[in-house]
Amino acid sequence: MNPVDYNDVQGLARFGYARLTEASYLLLRVRNAEAARAWLAAAPVSSAAYLPSAPDTALQIAFTPSGLSAMGVPRSAIDGFSAEFLDGMAGHASRSRRLGDVGKSAPARWRWGGPGRVPDLMVMLFVQQNLDRWQQTVQKAPWEEAFETVHTLYTSNMGGHEPFGFMDGISQPSFDWKREQPIPANTTAYSNILALGELLLGYPNEYARYTDRPLLNPSAPGAGELLPAEDQPALKDLGLNGTYLVLRQLEQDVRGFWQYLDRVAGGAADQRYRLGTAMVGRTLEGEPLIPPNREQVAGVTDQPGAPRNVFTYDHDPSGDECPLGAHIRRANPRNADLFGHPSEPVAVVASQLAIPRPKPGDDLMASTRFHRLLRRGREYGIKLSPEEACQPAPSDDPPRGLHFACLGANIVRQFEFVQNAWLMSTRFDGLTEESDPLLGNRAAVGDCPVTGNFSIPRKGQLARRLTGVPQFITVRGGAYFFLPGLRALRYITQAGAGVR
Ligand code: HEM
Repeated sequence: MNPVDYNDVQGLARFGYARLTEASYLLLRVRNAEAARAWLAAAPVSSAAYLPSAPDTALQIAFTPSGLSAMGVPRSAIDGFSAEFLDGMAGHASRSRRLGDVGKSAPARWRWGGPGRVPDLMVMLFVQQNLDRWQQTVQKAPWEEAFETVHTLYTSNMGGHEPFGFMDGISQPSFDWKREQPIPANTTAYSNILALGELLLGYPNEYARYTDRPLLNPSAPGAGELLPAEDQPALKDLGLNGTYLVLRQLEQDVRGFWQYLDRVAGGAADQRYRLGTAMVGRTLEGEPLIPPNREQVAGVTDQPGAPRNVFTYDHDPSGDECPLGAHIRRANPRNADLFGHPSEPVAVVASQLAIPRPKPGDDLMASTRFHRLLRRGREYGIKLSPEEACQPAPSDDPPRGLHFACLGANIVRQFEFVQNAWLMSTRFDGLTEESDPLLGNRAAVGDCPVTGNFSIPRKGQLARRLTGVPQFITVRGGAYFFLPGLRALRYITQAGAGVR
């Protein structure tokens, strides 16, 4: 088994660059391929290797299929990427429907990424301070000749909290970078360590298989420097050490969120917080609603002073502590598909044999280890406290939200599954007529005209059901990118030059 060459992996796969609090994402079209090649060849792309001292800047580059094509990557190579990457986030009405991108969030209304507005590539800039200077340094000749800017996404630093005010970026999967962990064929335990192939292409994933990616004939122009595929050594691996990057601009109606909660709380501030906390599944400070117990979760330890993340939903099968439909429970049900294990061996075997479980909803969810995401989002806009958010908006209230970003080797099995089956679905863990309380678009789905409820159970019974929950999030843009390894990036910049 080959060790991972960190110098060949773009840094975002390993680091969140939290120290580099200023960032902007430049969404670009290729104006002139030769000039783009020259700029890309000299670009200071940050790798995942540790440096002697933490860097003050970072730069990452990711491509859409049109960008690969504009750089002259042959069609036969591009076709080796996944179907959903090739289609694009807004490529089909059926995909938009599944992702919940309808009504106000429909791609036709997006600022970027919708029909005719898909960028070719994205340059992501991170810096500790003075973003303008870093941007000017990067945009040196032949930048102007090479690229046209479709849109620039600016970010802001809300001190680790997302715009509604909740601490974010707490629960992340970890990956077996050292490739030491055997991949279990079948496990009932929730683990936070995933096979490296769940993040990077070119390594075995949680099915112990290599995810499809473009493999090139060694004699293909420019392929010489690429490394052989581990599973097919006669071919060169264009995917190796690369990953897909999903980017979505999610505008948050922060005033709408807190004013709705204030209304249903009858103006009582403590009740307003309690309802918001129930919707997220964590407090504003990030503490989970599941009380501490002696559970252990492989791959995660709680740090003093930081919000807890060592927990499962084992001891809360009915959602009494953390509502079944809370955002974090939908986004990662941990082991909620196998309630009660391992003390209930009969239930585990029944689940493995697909024998229906006695409690409605128990068999609705697949094992979470196949559906984890590495989130790398950044907020934008000006922060509002919940109290400020309860005040009427001034006429010039600027937009705020999350540039949601996540990385993973399989867009359809990871991002699209979580977004569709767990967040947008109106049938989840026995719940009906509701979708994610933060993200739901409240649009009718198939035979379910009502989707705007939120259920809060207590002692196994429905204690409170909020109805008519408004839409708080509107999608303003989005695209699927490929974040190549550094060897692959050199191939992408040289492939077209080689064939001309
Ligand atoms: C504006 C939109 C969103 C907001 C305000 C939001 C907010 C949050 C917050 C406050 C947390 C808890 C902190 C943490 O565990 O890191 C969280 C966790 C999470 N969110 Fe979101 N989120 C948003 C969109 C999304 C989307 C689009 C997805 C996936 C498609 C997603 C997936 C997750 C996941 C996987 C977790 C971690 C759950 C866990 O492992 O316990 N979120 N989010």
